[in-house]
Amino acid sequence: MKVYYEQIGVAMTCRGYDEYIQMFDLQESELFHEKVLDVAGGGSSFTAEARRRGIEAFAVDPRYAQDVEQWIKEAAEEIAVSTAKLDKLKELFDWSYYGSLDNHRAGREASLQLFASHLATEEGQRAYCAGALPELPFEDDSFSLVTCSHFLFLYAEQFGFEFHKQAVLELMRVCKPGGEVRIYPLLTLKWNHFEQMDQLLAAIEEAGGKPTRQPSKLPFMPGSNEFLRIEV
Ligand SMILES: C[S@@+](CC[C@H](N)C(=O)[O-])C[C@H]1O[C@@H](n2cnc3c(N)ncnc32)[C@H](O)[C@@H]1O
Repeated sequence: MKVYYEQIGVAMTCRGYDEYIQMFDLQESELFHEKVLDVAGGGSSFTAEARRRGIEAFAVDPRYAQDVEQWIKEAAEEIAVSTAKLDKLKELFDWSYYGSLDNHRAGREASLQLFASHLATEEGQRAYCAGALPELPFEDDSFSLVTCSHFLFLYAEQFGFEFHKQAVLELMRVCKPGGEVRIYPLLTLKWNHFEQMDQLLAAIEEAGGKPTRQPSKLPFMPGSNEFLRIEV
């Protein structure tokens, strides 16, 4: 029987800035010229840390409309739950980036803290927006870089092809011509490839986007070594 990372519903996780840089192979020097939107931002500190560096970053997630204290508590619990799940499967993951399970957990805890303290600031009130794919609360062509980490493709068993198609077209809609959408990972929670990827890539091209699979610099999940880059 195939083993995989078991998950019911969509988890609220909190990767940090450097994880985003590696996953999406971002060039920091170029980020200063970008207006960045992180979709399905969850408890990630990417936006907080990017802003600390002077990058104009925003995040959107449906949970930002909910009781903040409650879901920050849930996110902290999720770190403990996911650490226990990873512990059972640890020989299947690639630890070359994190070094150890303890480092992985410590990184998540630090990221969540940074996120929570940034959210409580006046700047945080403007940087985090409530909204859900496949309809985001932004005008057309609002951002030059749109990221989506650990939501699309990963939960393909819960959200089908039509959702994915509408969601990706929506990421392209809020991205300016000349900008880019980057999505990682391209695997499902069962570490399978997204079955209708060819159909999705055709829909992206039909909408005027240029999709390419690019090598990711954060090996961790078994078989996950690419992100999807869409030039808009
Ligand atoms: C696994 S977390 C990823 C968080 C962060 N991007 C990271 O990499 O750590 C998935 C996030 O997707 C959000 N989400 C669930 N449904 C969504 C939707 N329809 N549109 C956008 N985000 C959604 C959840 O609230 C959750 O915060």
